[in-house]
Amino acid sequence: MRLSNFQLNHKGIPAMHATRKLWTWLAVICVLSFAVLGWVGTEIYLTAPPIPKQVVSTKGAVLFSEGQVQLGQEAWLSAGGQQLGSVWGHGSYVAPDWSADWLHREALALRAVWSQRDFGKPFDQLSVGQQAELSARLKSEMRRNTYDASTGIITLSPERAEAVAQVAAHYVGLFGSDPSLDKLREQYAMNAGSLPDALDLQALPAFIFWSAWSAATDRPGETDLSYTSNWPHEPLVDNTPTAGAGIWSIASIIFMIAAIAGMIFHHSTAKEEGDPTPPKSDPLFDLKPTPSMKATRKYFYVVIGLILVQIGMGAITAHYAVEGQSFFGFPLAQILPYTVSRTIHTQFAVLWIATAWLATGLYIAPAISGHEPKYQKLGVDVLFYALLFIVVGSTAFGWLGSLQHLGNSFSFWIGNQGLEFTSMGRVWQVLLFVGLLFWVTLLGRGLWPALKTPSESRGLIAMVFLAALCIGGFYATSLTWGPHTHYSMIEYWRWWLVHLWVEGFFEVFATAVIALLFTRLGLIRASTANSAIVLETIVFLFGGILGTLHHLYFTGTPTFVIAIGAMFSALEVVPLAMIGVEAYRNYQRSKSAPWVQAYKWSILCFIAVGFWNVVGAGLLGFTINTPIALYYLQGLNMTAAHGHAALFGVYGMLGIGLLLFCLRGLSDRAAWSDKLLAPMFWSLNIGLAMMVFISLVPAGVYQAWASITQGMWFARSPAVVHSHFMETLVWMRVPGDVVFSVGALFLAWFAVRLLTGGKRAQLAALPVASANRA
Ligand code: HEM
Ligand SMILES: [Fe+2]
Repeated sequence: MRLSNFQLNHKGIPAMHATRKLWTWLAVICVLSFAVLGWVGTEIYLTAPPIPKQVVSTKGAVLFSEGQVQLGQEAWLSAGGQQLGSVWGHGSYVAPDWSADWLHREALALRAVWSQRDFGKPFDQLSVGQQAELSARLKSEMRRNTYDASTGIITLSPERAEAVAQVAAHYVGLFGSDPSLDKLREQYAMNAGSLPDALDLQALPAFIFWSAWSAATDRPGETDLSYTSNWPHEPLVDNTPTAGAGIWSIASIIFMIAAIAGMIFHHSTAKEEGDPTPPKSDPLFDLKPTPSMKATRKYFYVVIGLILVQIGMGAITAHYAVEGQSFFGFPLAQILPYTVSRTIHTQFAVLWIATAWLATGLYIAPAISGHEPKYQKLGVDVLFYALLFIVVGSTAFGWLGSLQHLGNSFSFWIGNQGLEFTSMGRVWQVLLFVGLLFWVTLLGRGLWPALKTPSESRGLIAMVFLAALCIGGFYATSLTWGPHTHYSMIEYWRWWLVHLWVEGFFEVFATAVIALLFTRLGLIRASTANSAIVLETIVFLFGGILGTLHHLYFTGTPTFVIAIGAMFSALEVVPLAMIGVEAYRNYQRSKSAPWVQAYKWSILCFIAVGFWNVVGAGLLGFTINTPIALYYLQGLNMTAAHGHAALFGVYGMLGIGLLLFCLRGLSDRAAWSDKLLAPMFWSLNIGLAMMVFISLVPAGVYQAWASITQGMWFARSPAVVHSHFMETLVWMRVPGDVVFSVGALFLAWFAVRLLTGGKRAQLAALPVASANRA
């Protein structure tokens, strides 16, 4: 959305009136979208795959007893959960997708049992006709729904029960310590004895069986439509995409193209209003930081520390994809297993990005309102130490809990919940939620005078504040599930948080904060930016709120989730396309007056935000977005490519740009070194592009081929993940990773120099000052 050329006054409507109308529209869209999303939640709750009380064979043997499926879920999450393979496609990439793995193993085992019983030979040695007969029987047996809602019992044939028992034994050995599976565990980057508790170990197969059963069993009254809409791809049991997945994919593409055309039409017909003449000198040059503004400086140093740790953990995690338990021969996994390094890697990404924004909010609030509330500095300091406590505490206890296997309750409450991006134990989540609310309060106090006084930029300030309020408030959704919640519902709520943050409120915060900074610098008109930002938020949230459902196509949800998710998330691409244009405009603005050079690298970071919004979020996001694409690509490296390019490219770059902007006002200008920022900026961006396009995207394409031709189990099997080609691609990450890390080191060097160089500059200035006085 071009902030500067949106026309307020066409048809002669006064600007304020037009903007008020837009705010009303925004409210209506939010209320309606959340009403639909909430209703979808109740439907998911009502129709999710049933959790059986028992799984028995027709001969009466009990395979899994009451409570075991749920205990198995807790046990899996406690052993690392989504950081140790995935279930229904959500999780990490080195170990298998357990649902797909179980399904494949069970199908093969059942076929083998029949083949021996009926023909006395292994399946491979049967005639074509015999094989065809067994294959057909397999499909019908595995798809038939034998769940009895009145008793809560799933009944299996004796042969299938035998196949299930075989696969269960494999899983018990794998998550236990069966030495014959040492090599496989190494390939999966998991340690022996993942589940030392005997009850947990016996229950784990129940949960994995159930996730695979839901994936292949036809829903009541349906044929060829499983609870997970036939995900994962598994030709053995006729798990192939549903017609709806194909139709809604096509419809969503057409819809997106039409919406982009509409947007281009709107922009080309709206009259351009140019940027204002930039001020002669930096309007912020004389800005004197208040005590609370100064207190934010330490936040930025913590941000840089967290970035460095995150990168270190990323390097270790990537290395485990080749050497599953050690680091160049050193048995690192005994103290820092893959599950822990990956948890820290993903959790710290969110934490440092959030910290940079929290600090920026606290820094700009008094600067904008010209008002330093009482005790604000104290508040900023308290929040800082509280956040530090949460980061250190949650990481240490998560790590300890994983190493010591302190049990499922410990994992859920204090340790590592095993859920990607929302991994910290519940106690830490509650503390973080309180911290975020405290942040919003501090921000509100700082901005209050500016919010209550009418001014040209009041709308913009209100939008920044509302986005902050939603970022803080929506964190509450990660407190909704308990240890025994149905997995479909955990996924539903988890994406409320992760998706609504990154594809909703973060986008709003990012655009509003950048626009606000540009208006403060006098480079864009506040009046135009005001309503442009409301319009842009409408477009973001119109697609973004219901777009949440693109994560839930295959997580045991009703089929209409595919339709709504595909159509609305396709709309998310529309504003992103325009953001690229806006980034180019910002580039031009950075050259509009000589003093703007002082903010050059912040502004370039904001331009990079625009670039990665188009490439990382828009392009790579849409690559996996249609149901038919995600059916084959979910949980493979194409998702990782998108995740890296979007999360770091957009929000990481924004965090760094904001950090630079604030540090500019907080530091001695003499100690500022653009010479260090240039290599920082280019290394981070080029490194990211190398990592994504030389390694992750090719790996994603290779796995896509494996998934389409043979099935999801194959794309995540050691045969593919540890193939020569894939391991070479992991090594090809190294150059990009190195270039990227060099960028982070330059940032750290730059920040340290600001501290030490500042003092040196002051010392050097002293004789001059005294000479002047003399
Ligand atoms: C800056 C904005 C965005 C960020 C930061 C972001 C980030 C992420 C992350 C971190 C993941 C999870 C990766 C993983 O599990 O390893 C993800 C998944 C995904 N994203 Fe995005 N994303 C953004 C925008 C978009 C957009 C605009 C689209 C599409 C229109 C999109 C579509 C998807 C899809 C389809 C998935 C996989 C769904 C799943 O497996 O649950 N994303 N994204
Ligand atoms: Fe999303």
